[in-house]
Amino acid sequence: MFFWKNMNDYYKIFCMRKKITIRSEHDIRIAVNAVRILANSLSFSKVDLQKLIVAVSELTQNILDHTNEPGIFICESTDGKGIRIVVQDQGKGINELDQILEGENDFQKKGLGLGLVGAKRLLDDFQIETSEKGTKVIATKWKID
Ligand SMILES: Nc1ncnc2c1ncn2[C@@H]1O[C@H](COP(=O)(O)OP(=O)(O)OP(=O)(O)O)[C@@H](O)[C@H]1O
Ligand SMILES: [Mg+2]
Repeated sequence: MFFWKNMNDYYKIFCMRKKITIRSEHDIRIAVNAVRILANSLSFSKVDLQKLIVAVSELTQNILDHTNEPGIFICESTDGKGIRIVVQDQGKGINELDQILEGENDFQKKGLGLGLVGAKRLLDDFQIETSEKGTKVIATKWKID
C-alpha cells in the first residue's frame, strides 16, 4: 500500500487545479479555501496568501453582487511558481472599466467600488475581458522565493 509522506504531497498532486461554481456566499468560502490550500501547498508567504484571499473574495463576490447567473472560479498552479486564478461570469459586463481601474468610482451605486482595483493591485498579470456577454478575469500571483 502507498502512503503519502505528508499532506503537502497529497495537496501537490490532487489540489493543483480546482474549479468551483459560484452561486452563493458558501461557494465563495469554498473558493477561498481552495486557494488557501493551494497557496499553502506551494509554500506561499502569509502575506501573499492574504492577498490571494482578499482578491478571490472580491472577484467572486462581484459575481453575486453584479450578475444574476452563476459564475466559475478556477485556481491552478503554474508549475509550482505561481497560482493562476480565473473568475468568469455570464453577466452584462462591466461598464466604464477603465475609469473603475483608474479609481474613479463616483458612479458606483453599490459597495465601495474598490473590489476590482484592489484585486488588481493585490495580484500580478491582471487581465479583464468584459462584454455584454460576461466578464472574465485572469490573473496570476507569483511566488517570491
Ligand atoms: N462581474 C461583474 N459583472 C458586471 N459588473 C461588474 C462586475 N464586477 C464589477 N462590476 C461593476 O464594476 C463596479 C466596480 O466593481 P468593484 O468590485 O470595484 O466595486 P463594487 O462591487 O461596486 O463595491 P465593493 O467591491 O467595493 O463592495 C461595480 O459597481 C459594478 O458596476
Ligand atoms: Mg465588488
